[in-house]
Amino acid sequence: MERIYFDHAATTPLHPDVQAVMAASMHDVFGNASSVHAYGREAKSAVNQARDRMAARLGCRPQELVFTSGGTESDNAALFGAAWAAWLQSGQSPHQHQHNTKPHIVTTQVEHHAVLHACERLEALGFEVTYVAPDETGFVSADKIESALRPNTCLVSVMYGNNEVGTMQPIREIGGIVRSHGILMHTDAVQALGMIPIQLNELPVDFASFSAHKVNGPKGVGALYIRTGAVWDPFLFGGNQERKRRAGTENIAGIAGFAEAVERAVSSLDEKIQQLNSIREALWTGLKDTLGDRVVWNGHSSLQLPHILNVSILDVPTETMLMNLDIAGIMAASGSACTSGSLEVSHVLEAMNLPEERKRTAVRFSFGLGNTREEAAFVAQQIATIVSRVRTRK
Ligand SMILES: Cc1ncc(COP(=O)(O)O)c(C=O)c1O
Repeated sequence: MERIYFDHAATTPLHPDVQAVMAASMHDVFGNASSVHAYGREAKSAVNQARDRMAARLGCRPQELVFTSGGTESDNAALFGAAWAAWLQSGQSPHQHQHNTKPHIVTTQVEHHAVLHACERLEALGFEVTYVAPDETGFVSADKIESALRPNTCLVSVMYGNNEVGTMQPIREIGGIVRSHGILMHTDAVQALGMIPIQLNELPVDFASFSAHKVNGPKGVGALYIRTGAVWDPFLFGGNQERKRRAGTENIAGIAGFAEAVERAVSSLDEKIQQLNSIREALWTGLKDTLGDRVVWNGHSSLQLPHILNVSILDVPTETMLMNLDIAGIMAASGSACTSGSLEVSHVLEAMNLPEERKRTAVRFSFGLGNTREEAAFVAQQIATIVSRVRTRK
């Protein structure tokens, strides 16, 4: 049976060019980048070359990129790093502050758990956090973010594009407002990288998180952009790697693979966006044609990452649909990977305040390398078959 992988928002297959770069790196570069001898210098040069390549593509200075173990670490480093710096600057633990002077963070209810759970931890440490609600499409307006700001707000964290429904947030507008208040701004750009043009030097953000495995790179590698001059403190201590901002021996092959993946992901972007839009369109129209008003689009109609389609197929519960799709060799998801494992209703759909029936029947399809319109049409047909089978069983 042919398999169809429509779960690229969870992770992506390694691109053969990335694999080749990584294999060569593992074979040729084995030194520790901190060693002063020739092998060490070669390793350091490999890391710096990768950093230069990535910085050129992302529109920032090489020294503004810190390599990490992935999106989760980058998000945590941004949040804890900015929070910790605010704490140190104030000279007092957040618990010692009165309510109106406690360091305060603004984020949204639709963030990835890497941000939300980090914020919950910061609350336990005495920080105050406002979780701004989205509208029914998952969109959070700049006005809503502005109204949540307080004189003691030290950081705003809003994701660029949502991993469950694909809704994009107005980061340029939000960042502009946040900056005009003199507050630091973080964006989780893990799903946006390679899907929309990103030039960091033109974007009003101080921190941005990236992950290699979402762009046909290796798992366990990421990057945090830290704008020059942003007040931030590291949260891993040890060696002097990454200019003392992230201790630990560098994952040289992973970093080299990440740079190759980013180069591929951001080149021919227009063509790629067109191709992804066309696959999404084929699936959506295929579903609409057979299911009519029994299928509903979850997300925004235009502010939308091109690789994600989240729909509610109203007659079939999410788990039943995913199981039947899996039997047919089709891989999709119910939301973020960990949420689908635990069969909970996704916090994103919950925050969007969707009717119960839509939340119980939501499925996320996400597209990428190797997918075609023909596959999308085939998946739409298979879904129609599953729906009629489930309906007759009822
Ligand atoms: C928006 C977003 N942020 C963060 C992450 C975490 O990235 P990683 O898997 O590299 O830790 C993910 C991955 O699912 C994501 O989609």
